[in-house]
Amino acid sequence: MEKINVNYEKMYYGFPVILISFFDKNGLPNVTTLSSSYSLKDMVVLGFSSKGYAINQIKEVRDFVINIPDSSLRKEISFCGTKSGHEVQKFDATKLTYSKSKIVNAPIIEECPITIECTLTDVIEKDAYAGITNILGIIKGRIISKEYLDDENRLNISKFDNLLYFGDGINKGYRYIKNEQ
Ligand SMILES: Cc1cc2nc3c(=O)[nH]c(=O)nc-3n(C[C@H](O)[C@H](O)[C@H](O)COP(=O)(O)O)c2cc1C
Repeated sequence: MEKINVNYEKMYYGFPVILISFFDKNGLPNVTTLSSSYSLKDMVVLGFSSKGYAINQIKEVRDFVINIPDSSLRKEISFCGTKSGHEVQKFDATKLTYSKSKIVNAPIIEECPITIECTLTDVIEKDAYAGITNILGIIKGRIISKEYLDDENRLNISKFDNLLYFGDGINKGYRYIKNEQ
């Protein structure tokens, strides 16, 4: 295997695309696209650019929902990942609809097959990583479309159709787990 050194601005090696939904300080629903996340047991970590609308609202309202979109929502993923809630109420501007979570004060995106209901526990901002805000959240509930479940209500992994985000800062794009492109 021949390898070379590269000097990319970033190296995203295939992170699941997620939509983060929340009610802002005025009680209005909004949503943003994220790829920086990981989860271990009942903990989740999300990485945001510090100036975004979503992170600055979530730091105050604390509750949020992680929605896992499938490949049919590429247009909405792109819109929510390029427009800011500073300027637009993204539920109004897309075909996305929501219901209210019963256990956290946040909207659940109806069109996404997986919902993870969370409350913020920690905010991590370090001089060494200026401009980046990481948050830790505790997972309080999980809701999954029956289409993704087997007869015993366990995950039917072959049904997953979500997107992975790859990029080096210049070349970037998605691959689907089911329908590669
Ligand atoms: C596929 C994709 C992945 C993204 N991942 C992140 C991310 O992990 N963290 C982040 O801060 N922004 C990410 N973005 C960019 C934000 O979604 C974008 O800046 C958005 O406009 C911020 O909206 P807000 O100001 O309403 O929070 C991503 C965008 C796309 C399209």
